[in-house]
Amino acid sequence: MKKDSKKWQNRPSFLQKLGKVSRDDLLGPRDDILSAQICKILKKFNKSNYKILDVGSGPHAIVARKILKLYDKKVTIIDCFDFYEKKYIKEFNSKNKKIKLHKIDDLKNCKNKYDFGLLLDVLHHIDLKNEIKINNLISTIFKKSKYLIIKDHLYENFLDKILLIMMDMFGNIKDGVKTIPTYFNKKNLKKFIKDNQLQTIYFISNVSYYFRHIIFFNKKNLHFISVFKKK
Ligand SMILES: C[S@@+](CC[C@H](N)C(=O)[O-])C[C@H]1O[C@@H](n2cnc3c(N)ncnc32)[C@H](O)[C@@H]1O
Repeated sequence: MKKDSKKWQNRPSFLQKLGKVSRDDLLGPRDDILSAQICKILKKFNKSNYKILDVGSGPHAIVARKILKLYDKKVTIIDCFDFYEKKYIKEFNSKNKKIKLHKIDDLKNCKNKYDFGLLLDVLHHIDLKNEIKINNLISTIFKKSKYLIIKDHLYENFLDKILLIMMDMFGNIKDGVKTIPTYFNKKNLKKFIKDNQLQTIYFISNVSYYFRHIIFFNKKNLHFISVFKKK
């Protein structure tokens, strides 16, 4: 009896459990699916080694880490740029050989050259209406990288947009990433491609990133991955 009551006391409370629930538990294995998709794309280029630039890589550079896990032998380096603090960068970089974190402010002056630049769910966080900022970032990346892989959201109608806003708020609340409700649709994506003089090499939009039972969020056409090169 005594043993049982102790066992009960050690069980985490509902709130403790809730605190440990991750985006993956609630929505689905988006990071695994996305990194597998990126590796599938990398394979198509059949290179002996890959140098990757991940811009807006996120607080924990999770996708970069998963890409490295899946494609380790072929990847020489993944340089990640985001709003990282000096202390965090130092600690992370001392523990990781192939993934290196950098401050986003250092991106412009970075002299390294890469095969692929990644912008994974970043552009809609910058604000797609800020075309100057977005186009400057695209041009900075192409100065350093031959190809650019963009993963972002895509909406067709008002309901899609509402779903994307909810998904973004839900997915990023823990990491403190701001939700800015501007997303790509067919029209502004076409303009973005034209303004930045891009050539689409691959366009992938039939991927589910979330659990099947999350019927609306799981719509395949709410997301796209595009591989671009400069015209
Ligand atoms: C939704 S997270 C995506 C993280 C990661 N790329 C991934 O796919 O898991 C969006 C990221 O974009 C970053 N971000 C926002 N504005 C940015 C900017 N102007 N330049 C670079 N990164 C930016 C945020 O700090 C955040 O880490």
